[in-house]
Amino acid sequence: MNAVTLDHLSKTYPGGRQAVDSVSLTLEPGEVFGFLGPNGAGKTTTVKLLNGMLTPTRGSLRVFGLDPAAAPEKVHALSGVVTEHAQMYDHLTGLDNLIFYGALFGLDIPESRRRGQKLLAQMELSDAENVKLAAYSTGMRQRLSLARALLHRPSILFLDEPTSGLDPESAQKVHAMIRRLAAEQGCTVFLCTHQLRYAQEICTRYGLMEEGRLLAQGTLESLQARVGSGITLKLRLSSLPAFLEKRAVSLGEHLFALPIRTENEIPELVRQIAADGKDIFHVQAELPTLEDIYFALTNRPKETL
Ligand SMILES: Nc1ncnc2c1ncn2[C@@H]1O[C@H](COP(=O)(O)OP(=O)(O)OP(=O)(O)O)[C@@H](O)[C@H]1O
Ligand SMILES: [Mg+2]
Repeated sequence: MNAVTLDHLSKTYPGGRQAVDSVSLTLEPGEVFGFLGPNGAGKTTTVKLLNGMLTPTRGSLRVFGLDPAAAPEKVHALSGVVTEHAQMYDHLTGLDNLIFYGALFGLDIPESRRRGQKLLAQMELSDAENVKLAAYSTGMRQRLSLARALLHRPSILFLDEPTSGLDPESAQKVHAMIRRLAAEQGCTVFLCTHQLRYAQEICTRYGLMEEGRLLAQGTLESLQARVGSGITLKLRLSSLPAFLEKRAVSLGEHLFALPIRTENEIPELVRQIAADGKDIFHVQAELPTLEDIYFALTNRPKETL
């Protein structure tokens, strides 16, 4: 059974704004799916639909075969959610917050405490277990929020910008935890983010959204093949041979970028450069990154994401 199925899912808000426009996709169990797109693309709206907080205007959706609008409590029993601004209780300690939410998930107090302490340790928050949430930093709150989402051992995690507002080191920690969860516990992850570089480190597949529409979906390799922008060969040479003058771009002293179609071109090129009497200090083949793919598909200038 698919973990998630969206079938021509559409959502128009009462004011007339169409936030999600006929999106169809499926997630297999255990996938770490990156749902990517700029502000206003429809990511949060999709997560709210998946959690039964909103109902679709058209189309349908299922989470492990369940309709979130018809059976929200069944979906909540299977899923954990981390939103950008996690709401928890400032006057309770980190552990007491987890015990409280554990009770909502039907765990008894000793079990909530055990599970809470284990998760706090995993999130490197053991030292702050008895500290009131009011004194937590943003990064600590986000990690506590992840711990809360995991209390009932969900089969799927919906993470909406889980690292927004975190410094690079804290963001890295959260991403490492997400990767571990997926690898060790087989948890399916639906990760909304516009941080493409981080997404590329942890996701197994992607969906690229823009203005409510799904522009493309697939693995990095399939998306790379789709944009077809080929490989950029970075070369550090004593000087550029005349036969490459029209094809290569200078990137600085002795450094050149050369677009090629496939890796098979590299050995012959290297032989030709050497035969031309030039010294080769460095050769590196660079495939398009998720960012390159995104901007190629949307034709957006890079600063818009
Ligand atoms: N409650 C609402 N009522 C009306 N319009 C809304 C509502 N919530 C969101 N929208 C609109 O729907 C569109 C999609 O918003 P959404 O929050 O789903 O985007 P997003 O991809 O999560 O963006 P961000 O990266 O900024 O979080 C936007 O144009 C937004 O203004
Ligand atoms: Mg959002």
